[in-house]
Amino acid sequence: MPTIAIVGAGPGLGLSIAKVFGGRGFSVALVARDQGRLDDLAGQLRAAGIDAAGFTADIMDRPSLAAAFTRIKDRFGAVDVLEYSPAPHNPVPGITMAGPLEATVENLQPQIDYYLYGGLTAAQQVLPDMIKNDAGTLLFTTGGSSADPLTGPPEFAATAVGSAALRAWVLKLHQTLAGTGVYAAHVPLNVWIGSGGPETQADTIAQHYWDVYTRRDGAEHHYTA
Ligand SMILES: NC(=O)c1ccc[n+]([C@@H]2O[C@H](COP(=O)([O-])OP(=O)(O)OC[C@H]3O[C@@H](n4cnc5c(N)ncnc54)[C@H](OP(=O)(O)O)[C@@H]3O)[C@@H](O)[C@H]2O)c1
Repeated sequence: MPTIAIVGAGPGLGLSIAKVFGGRGFSVALVARDQGRLDDLAGQLRAAGIDAAGFTADIMDRPSLAAAFTRIKDRFGAVDVLEYSPAPHNPVPGITMAGPLEATVENLQPQIDYYLYGGLTAAQQVLPDMIKNDAGTLLFTTGGSSADPLTGPPEFAATAVGSAALRAWVLKLHQTLAGTGVYAAHVPLNVWIGSGGPETQADTIAQHYWDVYTRRDGAEHHYTA
């Protein structure tokens, strides 16, 4: 049974992606900071007949993320799909809104930690096996300001900078892996999830990930609602 690891798994997009892949035969490893919240999500998935479990880690604490993947591989075996989509809906120390005039080294560094170094560390836990087996998929999600900094208000500057750094690395990873069995892509979401009609709902957006996973074509796949 293939396995998807969702890093930054919450009740919104993370759960919806878990349902889409889990409904198509994947086991699901959910990664976030709180075991109770993860157990609730995994319970919902198991109730739907999906093999799922939660693994705590803080993406700001890179050893904890590496340790979570050790536990994931013990439980499920190799990871076939990595999906990276954390969002600071619960406070993350150091992560703040900051416009360009408020930007400092001190408030930009955590954004780099959160997006670039978190995504890189997660990928490093699965890439060696994927390259050895010449098979695997890595999908990285950000908001639209990663690809177009004029998306959203000026207060998104710090987030735009951090997520743009992750985007740049993912696009170069895609380029490097081209022609192999390992596929990497960036998914910028130009939508407030759950803000309006069906096209803004996490369950709808999650279908986009299945399309990207199955098409395996292109470095970047915007979702706009
Ligand atoms: N929500 C939107 O309107 C929106 C708009 C554009 C793009 N996006 C993108 O969509 C993705 C998120 O989807 P969502 O908003 O529906 O969120 P979600 O999947 O419901 O939740 C994301 C989860 O990330 C976890 N997380 C946050 N900080 C973490 C950390 N330091 N270490 C480990 N896990 C952490 C949180 O769990 P814990 O707090 O328990 O750790 C949270 O529940 C992100 O890639 C975001 O950039 C969202």
